[in-house]
Amino acid sequence: MSGPLTDRSIATGLSAAIAAPSIHNTQPWRFRIRDGGFDVLADHDKGLDVIDPDRRAMYLSLGAAVFNLRLALAAAGHTPLTVPVPVDDHRVARVEFGSRKMPAQGTRLLAAAIPRRRTNRLPYQGALVPAGTVEELCAAAAGAGAGAGAQLAALDPVGRNAVLGLTWTADARQRSDPAYRREIVAWTAPTGVRHDGVSSEAFGPRPAMSAVSVRDFGLGLPPDERPTARFETDPQLLILRSLGDDRAAWLRSGQALQRVLLTATVRGVAVQPMTQALEMPDLRRTLIGPDGRWWPQMILRIGYGQSVPNSPRRPISACVEPRPWQRRRVSAVAG
Ligand SMILES: Cc1cc2nc3c(=O)[nH]c(=O)nc-3n(C[C@H](O)[C@H](O)[C@H](O)COP(=O)(O)O)c2cc1C
Repeated sequence: MSGPLTDRSIATGLSAAIAAPSIHNTQPWRFRIRDGGFDVLADHDKGLDVIDPDRRAMYLSLGAAVFNLRLALAAAGHTPLTVPVPVDDHRVARVEFGSRKMPAQGTRLLAAAIPRRRTNRLPYQGALVPAGTVEELCAAAAGAGAGAGAQLAALDPVGRNAVLGLTWTADARQRSDPAYRREIVAWTAPTGVRHDGVSSEAFGPRPAMSAVSVRDFGLGLPPDERPTARFETDPQLLILRSLGDDRAAWLRSGQALQRVLLTATVRGVAVQPMTQALEMPDLRRTLIGPDGRWWPQMILRIGYGQSVPNSPRRPISACVEPRPWQRRRVSAVAG
């Protein structure tokens, strides 16, 4: 028996999808409700030409939205069917409703974490994330429906210091690039004025005397208006890699990423993506896995920190393509 596509199930799926993380909170997605399912579409108007000319980070963000959509449908008792479609410039996935099925407890727990997950840019304090929890996060990446296509690993001190060094170099290059600064300023705003971009209350402090170069979203503000804080001296870092490096691999990585982030939320672990080094092709190449087949897609700082506010989202209505009859009505009024 197939589940019905009710307004309620559509709203459940869409509100979960738009809660996904996205590079600079660009929310580069659109959805088309068609023939009893969802088409997930890339919104290239939201592309970041300076840090993401190939749209890798955009497709990672889209993958995270696809994962949330599937998870919310599963938690609502529908088996989500991901229909294989060629991943192109526009359409990236199609999710349909399969048979009704009682959701597993783990599915419900992860889905309940969707609205609680957020990027935490504060310094992390206290205990290290225990090895057992780190293993659980690594297993989450492998079980995201990406098959053997995504792999999360904890960095040992040598690997961590190498990544911190690359991040420092990337961050310094980016800060001195006027185009990068313009792009950051275009995607940041005081809290409460926009439905997208990173809002000022989510910037976090600037690191003082620290090895950690977290991305500075306050580049448009005078430095003395920004608080500084000491970050961890030995941050815990994870790296997500994918087999291959094309749009399909980026989408799979985004799904794996989101499963990791939701698992971290369930376990009370704070996470911040730190991707500056992956935005410079020469630096990124140095992080390809030892056998040359595993491409770095995401670097995560993990720990325990105070809670942070959630980031804004565009309303669902702004992310849904009008249905054909609505389009006809709009053009009749416009004409
Ligand atoms: C591909 C990708 C790269 C990201 N890179 C960074 C980063 O380098 N630094 C950072 O603080 N946040 C980074 N983020 C987090 C986004 O800024 C964040 O998801 C967005 O602002 C929405 O906020 P939320 O995650 O709290 O919902 C990244 C997210 C994605 C999906």
